[in-house]
Amino acid sequence: MEQKYEKMKQRVEAELSCSAHDMEHVLRVTDMCLYLAQGESVDLDVLKSAALLHDIARVKEDEDKFRETDHALLGAKMAEEILKELCYPEEKRERIKHCIAAHRFRSSCTPQTREAQILFDADKLDVLGAVGVGRSFMVAGKYNERVYVDTPLDAYLRENAVGGTRLGRIKDFRKHAPNIEFETKFKHIPDVLYTAKARKIAKERIDFMENFFEQLRKETGEMRIMTSIH
Ligand SMILES: [Fe+2]
Ligand SMILES: [Fe+2]
Repeated sequence: MEQKYEKMKQRVEAELSCSAHDMEHVLRVTDMCLYLAQGESVDLDVLKSAALLHDIARVKEDEDKFRETDHALLGAKMAEEILKELCYPEEKRERIKHCIAAHRFRSSCTPQTREAQILFDADKLDVLGAVGVGRSFMVAGKYNERVYVDTPLDAYLRENAVGGTRLGRIKDFRKHAPNIEFETKFKHIPDVLYTAKARKIAKERIDFMENFFEQLRKETGEMRIMTSIH
Protein backbone atom coordinates (compact mmCIF):
# COMPACT_ATOMS: atom_id res chain seq x y z
CA MET A 1 0.00 0.00 0.00
CA GLU A 2 1.30 3.41 -0.94
CA GLN A 3 2.84 5.31 1.99
CA LYS A 4 0.13 7.98 2.29
CA TYR A 5 -2.60 5.32 2.36
CA GLU A 6 -0.62 3.39 4.96
CA LYS A 7 -0.54 6.54 7.12
CA MET A 8 -4.31 7.01 6.78
CA LYS A 9 -4.83 3.37 7.70
CA GLN A 10 -2.72 3.76 10.85
CA ARG A 11 -4.64 6.87 11.93
CA VAL A 12 -7.99 5.14 11.42
CA GLU A 13 -6.88 1.95 13.16
CA ALA A 14 -5.93 4.00 16.23
CA GLU A 15 -9.48 5.41 16.39
CA LEU A 16 -11.49 2.20 15.89
CA SER A 17 -12.30 -0.24 18.65
CA CYS A 18 -15.76 -1.64 17.75
CA SER A 19 -15.58 -5.07 16.11
CA ALA A 20 -18.46 -4.41 13.68
CA HIS A 21 -16.72 -1.22 12.52
CA ASP A 22 -13.15 -2.39 12.62
CA MET A 23 -10.31 -2.04 10.16
CA GLU A 24 -11.48 -5.14 8.32
CA HIS A 25 -14.76 -3.35 7.53
CA VAL A 26 -12.79 -0.34 6.29
CA LEU A 27 -10.59 -2.50 4.05
CA ARG A 28 -13.57 -4.48 2.68
CA VAL A 29 -15.32 -1.20 1.85
CA THR A 30 -12.15 0.13 0.20
CA ASP A 31 -11.84 -3.02 -1.95
CA MET A 32 -15.53 -2.86 -2.87
CA CYS A 33 -15.14 0.82 -3.86
CA LEU A 34 -12.33 -0.09 -6.23
CA TYR A 35 -14.45 -2.88 -7.72
CA LEU A 36 -17.52 -0.67 -8.17
CA ALA A 37 -15.32 2.05 -9.70
CA GLN A 38 -14.15 -0.18 -12.55
CA GLY A 39 -15.37 1.32 -15.82
CA GLU A 40 -16.49 4.53 -14.05
CA SER A 41 -14.93 7.93 -14.60
CA VAL A 42 -13.77 8.68 -11.05
CA ASP A 43 -10.70 9.96 -9.21
CA LEU A 44 -9.37 6.80 -7.58
CA ASP A 45 -7.18 8.76 -5.15
CA VAL A 46 -10.26 10.65 -3.86
CA LEU A 47 -12.25 7.43 -3.63
CA LYS A 48 -9.57 5.36 -1.91
CA SER A 49 -8.70 8.10 0.60
CA ALA A 50 -12.38 8.62 1.43
CA ALA A 51 -12.95 4.89 1.84
CA LEU A 52 -10.00 4.50 4.21
CA LEU A 53 -11.07 7.48 6.31
CA HIS A 54 -14.88 7.15 6.15
CA ASP A 55 -15.47 5.66 9.62
CA ILE A 56 -12.68 7.42 11.51
CA ALA A 57 -15.21 9.03 13.87
CA ARG A 58 -17.39 5.95 14.34
CA VAL A 59 -16.27 5.22 17.90
CA LYS A 60 -16.71 8.88 18.85
CA GLU A 61 -20.37 8.65 17.74
CA ASP A 62 -20.91 5.42 19.70
CA GLU A 63 -19.38 6.94 22.81
CA ASP A 64 -21.54 10.07 22.70
CA LYS A 65 -24.13 9.52 25.41
CA PHE A 66 -26.17 12.49 24.15
CA ARG A 67 -26.39 10.99 20.64
CA GLU A 68 -25.47 14.30 19.07
CA THR A 69 -22.40 13.17 17.13
CA ASP A 70 -22.80 12.28 13.46
CA HIS A 71 -19.72 10.21 12.64
CA ALA A 72 -19.93 11.12 8.96
CA LEU A 73 -19.79 14.87 9.60
CA LEU A 74 -17.22 14.60 12.38
CA GLY A 75 -15.22 12.12 10.26
CA ALA A 76 -15.01 14.69 7.45
CA LYS A 77 -13.57 17.22 9.92
CA MET A 78 -11.03 14.74 11.30
CA ALA A 79 -10.04 13.76 7.76
CA GLU A 80 -9.28 17.39 6.93
CA GLU A 81 -6.37 17.45 9.37
CA ILE A 82 -4.89 14.18 8.12
CA LEU A 83 -5.25 15.22 4.48
CA LYS A 84 -3.55 18.54 5.20
CA GLU A 85 -0.66 16.72 6.88
CA LEU A 86 -0.38 14.56 3.77
CA CYS A 87 -0.29 17.72 1.58
CA TYR A 88 -3.52 17.09 -0.33
CA PRO A 89 -4.57 20.24 -2.24
CA GLU A 90 -7.74 21.97 -1.00
CA GLU A 91 -9.87 20.99 -3.99
CA LYS A 92 -9.11 17.31 -3.43
CA ARG A 93 -9.61 17.59 0.32
CA GLU A 94 -13.09 19.01 -0.26
CA ARG A 95 -14.01 16.16 -2.60
CA ILE A 96 -12.79 13.53 -0.12
CA LYS A 97 -14.58 15.24 2.76
CA HIS A 98 -17.84 15.30 0.81
CA CYS A 99 -17.63 11.52 0.26
CA ILE A 100 -17.11 10.95 4.01
CA ALA A 101 -19.86 13.38 5.07
CA ALA A 102 -22.37 11.75 2.70
CA HIS A 103 -21.67 8.05 3.35
CA ARG A 104 -24.14 7.62 6.21
CA PHE A 105 -27.51 5.96 5.67
CA ARG A 106 -29.54 8.56 7.54
CA SER A 107 -27.70 11.76 6.81
CA SER A 108 -28.54 15.34 6.06
CA CYS A 109 -25.82 15.26 3.40
CA THR A 110 -26.52 13.16 0.28
CA PRO A 111 -23.83 11.96 -2.18
CA GLN A 112 -23.44 14.49 -5.01
CA THR A 113 -20.39 13.07 -6.80
CA ARG A 114 -19.78 9.64 -8.34
CA GLU A 115 -17.01 8.96 -5.80
CA ALA A 116 -19.42 9.74 -2.94
CA GLN A 117 -22.12 7.54 -4.47
CA ILE A 118 -19.70 4.63 -4.85
CA LEU A 119 -18.49 4.92 -1.25
CA PHE A 120 -22.11 5.09 -0.05
CA ASP A 121 -22.96 1.92 -2.00
CA ALA A 122 -19.84 0.01 -0.93
CA ASP A 123 -20.46 0.83 2.73
CA LYS A 124 -24.09 -0.36 2.55
CA LEU A 125 -23.10 -3.63 0.85
CA ASP A 126 -20.99 -4.49 3.89
CA VAL A 127 -24.10 -4.95 6.06
CA LEU A 128 -25.45 -7.55 3.61
CA GLY A 129 -24.65 -11.19 2.86
CA ALA A 130 -22.70 -13.52 5.14
CA VAL A 131 -20.53 -10.64 6.34
CA GLY A 132 -23.70 -8.71 7.12
CA VAL A 133 -25.06 -11.60 9.19
CA GLY A 134 -21.78 -11.84 11.08
CA ARG A 135 -21.60 -8.11 11.72
CA SER A 136 -25.25 -7.85 12.81
CA PHE A 137 -24.68 -10.55 15.44
CA MET A 138 -21.56 -8.73 16.65
CA VAL A 139 -23.73 -5.65 17.21
CA ALA A 140 -26.47 -7.81 18.78
CA GLY A 141 -23.96 -9.16 21.30
CA LYS A 142 -22.74 -5.70 22.17
CA TYR A 143 -26.29 -4.44 22.93
CA ASN A 144 -27.62 -7.62 24.59
CA GLU A 145 -30.09 -8.24 21.78
CA ARG A 146 -31.82 -11.57 21.21
CA VAL A 147 -30.80 -14.20 18.66
CA TYR A 148 -34.24 -14.12 17.00
CA VAL A 149 -37.48 -12.22 17.56
CA ASP A 150 -40.60 -13.90 16.17
CA THR A 151 -43.07 -11.11 16.96
CA PRO A 152 -44.92 -10.00 13.78
CA LEU A 153 -43.23 -6.89 12.42
CA ASP A 154 -46.25 -4.56 12.88
CA ALA A 155 -46.61 -5.54 16.52
CA TYR A 156 -42.85 -5.25 17.10
CA LEU A 157 -42.76 -1.73 15.62
CA ARG A 158 -45.76 -0.59 17.68
CA GLU A 159 -44.07 -1.79 20.84
CA ASN A 160 -40.38 -1.15 20.34
CA ALA A 161 -39.82 1.54 17.68
CA VAL A 162 -40.22 5.25 18.40
CA GLY A 163 -43.20 6.45 16.34
CA GLY A 164 -44.03 2.84 15.43
CA THR A 165 -42.21 3.20 12.11
CA ARG A 166 -39.57 1.13 10.35
CA LEU A 167 -36.81 3.70 10.83
CA GLY A 168 -37.89 4.77 14.33
CA ARG A 169 -35.25 4.55 17.05
CA ILE A 170 -35.21 1.27 19.02
CA LYS A 171 -36.60 1.69 22.54
CA ASP A 172 -35.24 -1.46 24.17
CA PHE A 173 -32.38 -3.39 22.56
CA ARG A 174 -33.17 -6.48 24.66
CA LYS A 175 -36.35 -6.85 22.57
CA HIS A 176 -34.46 -6.41 19.31
CA ALA A 177 -32.64 -8.94 17.07
CA PRO A 178 -30.74 -9.06 13.76
CA ASN A 179 -33.79 -10.45 11.90
CA ILE A 180 -35.71 -7.27 12.79
CA GLU A 181 -32.79 -5.17 11.61
CA PHE A 182 -32.90 -7.14 8.35
CA GLU A 183 -36.66 -6.63 7.87
CA THR A 184 -36.71 -2.95 8.76
CA LYS A 185 -33.48 -1.71 7.20
CA PHE A 186 -31.19 -4.09 5.30
CA LYS A 187 -33.89 -5.47 2.99
CA HIS A 188 -34.61 -1.97 1.71
CA ILE A 189 -31.01 -1.12 0.86
CA PRO A 190 -31.28 -1.74 -2.93
CA ASP A 191 -33.84 1.13 -3.09
CA VAL A 192 -31.26 3.66 -1.95
CA LEU A 193 -28.19 2.52 -3.88
CA TYR A 194 -26.75 4.65 -6.71
CA THR A 195 -24.91 2.11 -8.90
CA ALA A 196 -26.43 -0.78 -10.86
CA LYS A 197 -23.46 -2.99 -9.96
CA ALA A 198 -24.06 -2.53 -6.22
CA ARG A 199 -27.81 -3.13 -6.61
CA LYS A 200 -27.11 -6.48 -8.25
CA ILE A 201 -24.73 -7.55 -5.46
CA ALA A 202 -27.19 -6.31 -2.84
CA LYS A 203 -30.03 -8.42 -4.25
CA GLU A 204 -27.90 -11.57 -4.25
CA ARG A 205 -26.79 -10.94 -0.67
CA ILE A 206 -30.36 -10.23 0.47
CA ASP A 207 -31.52 -13.56 -1.01
CA PHE A 208 -28.85 -15.29 1.08
CA MET A 209 -29.99 -13.44 4.22
CA GLU A 210 -33.67 -14.31 3.59
CA ASN A 211 -32.66 -17.97 3.60
CA PHE A 212 -30.49 -17.59 6.67
CA PHE A 213 -33.17 -15.88 8.76
CA GLU A 214 -35.81 -18.34 7.56
CA GLN A 215 -33.59 -21.20 8.76
CA LEU A 216 -33.05 -19.37 12.05
CA ARG A 217 -36.83 -18.87 12.43
CA LYS A 218 -37.38 -22.58 11.85
CA GLU A 219 -34.68 -23.70 14.27
CA THR A 220 -35.71 -21.39 17.09
CA GLY A 221 -39.40 -22.30 16.60
CA GLU A 222 -38.74 -26.05 16.30
CA MET A 223 -36.81 -26.13 19.53
CA ARG A 224 -39.74 -24.50 21.32
CA ILE A 225 -42.17 -27.11 19.98
CA MET A 226 -39.81 -30.02 20.70
CA THR A 227 -39.17 -29.06 24.32
CA SER A 228 -42.55 -27.42 25.13
CA ILE A 229 -41.03 -25.65 28.09
CA HIS A 230 -42.13 -22.11 27.16
FE1 LIG B 1 -20.07 4.86 8.73
FE1 LIG C 1 -18.58 2.09 7.23
